[in-house]
Amino acid sequence: MSGWPDFTVSPAAVSGPRAFRRAGVRPEETDLAELYDTFTCMTLVTLEDLGFCAKGEGGAFVEKGRLRVGGGGLPVNTDGAACPPSIPESGGCSCWRKRYGSCGASADSGRCAGPTAHCPGRPWPPAPAAGSARRGRWCGAGRENRGMGTDLHELLRSLRVWDPEVTELPAFDPAGAPGEPLALFTRWFAEAVAAGQTEPHTMSLATADADGLPDVRIVTLHGADAGGWAFATHAHSRKGAQLARRPYAALAFYWPVLGRQVRLRGPVEQAPAEEAQADLHARSTAALAAALTGRQSGVLGSLEELARASEAAWERAEREPDTPVESWTLYRLRPDEAEFFQGEERRRHVRLRYRRTGEGWSRELLWP
Ligand SMILES: Cc1cc2nc3c(=O)[nH]c(=O)nc-3n(C[C@H](O)[C@H](O)[C@H](O)COP(=O)(O)O)c2cc1C
Repeated sequence: MSGWPDFTVSPAAVSGPRAFRRAGVRPEETDLAELYDTFTCMTLVTLEDLGFCAKGEGGAFVEKGRLRVGGGGLPVNTDGAACPPSIPESGGCSCWRKRYGSCGASADSGRCAGPTAHCPGRPWPPAPAAGSARRGRWCGAGRENRGMGTDLHELLRSLRVWDPEVTELPAFDPAGAPGEPLALFTRWFAEAVAAGQTEPHTMSLATADADGLPDVRIVTLHGADAGGWAFATHAHSRKGAQLARRPYAALAFYWPVLGRQVRLRGPVEQAPAEEAQADLHARSTAALAAALTGRQSGVLGSLEELARASEAAWERAEREPDTPVESWTLYRLRPDEAEFFQGEERRRHVRLRYRRTGEGWSRELLWP
């Protein structure tokens, strides 16, 4: 505690609003709260920071009996391994009493079955099935089960797109957008970089196989200009074979920090071989070593086999940085169609689609 900079503010000032936002409830909709390991004055400050009362009103809030079990409005359970109930009228197993009528033991007595994850006791009745997400969350399953479980559906329900903690949703006025997609892409790309988007230059590349069945993977953007959006790979890879048969593809970028997506569709052409080699040699030793490792998309016998091939490729890449990799191919997707999607808080997403018309572009809005 000696390191805590300001005792008028608790960690809940940060974590509280975030937790309420994620749970989709407001403080005034809470009918039971548990404050874990808060000593008396921090209990008051934490109540304020969680938004149960105004800042500076924590003392009055408690004195008015708002925390009293049975009629107070907000029963608060203040317990913890080190801190005994700091507000006697509300402490101990008030959570348990409030929900199930009686308890008779404190959380730390070893007999309590309260809803604190650290609490070694019985599960909530009716007993959730062993291994269920609810059991991991509420029952006496030990500290390792505190917090979020690993159940896929529970995790999915807990997640949101465009969490205001990490996403800023800029206004997008399509009327002011440039007349062609490259200029808007260039602007949005620069804004994604400036906003701290990780790996903004990675994109999904969708191709189709000989039967017309779709395929998709992530690749790296090597450039975008009037000739198209460029990416590089081995001609013998699965995508390379698919593009050889059906030279048409789609790209999708997603920049979550700004709630933006860009989609492109169009024919794909191979750049001249010298251009592909120059592009490869302008990149890192790791990129050259990866390309030299080769056999992309073939079946690999073992990781040891990969380690041996990679080791040899790294030695060669360092020794001969200009060594050519014949199968390495630079492709350009020249879009017929480009769509810019700007997420909007109230889900009135703005979608602007460009379509090539001879030498120019038409523009239209799409329903989200
Ligand atoms: C972030 C990221 C970037 C990647 N960039 C490339 C790339 O530029 N070129 C490439 O061939 N594979 C790249 N890959 C690997 C591909 O996703 C894919 O596994 C590989 O190309 C084989 O795909 P295929 O079997 O469909 O041909 C990248 C993967 C990730 C996760």
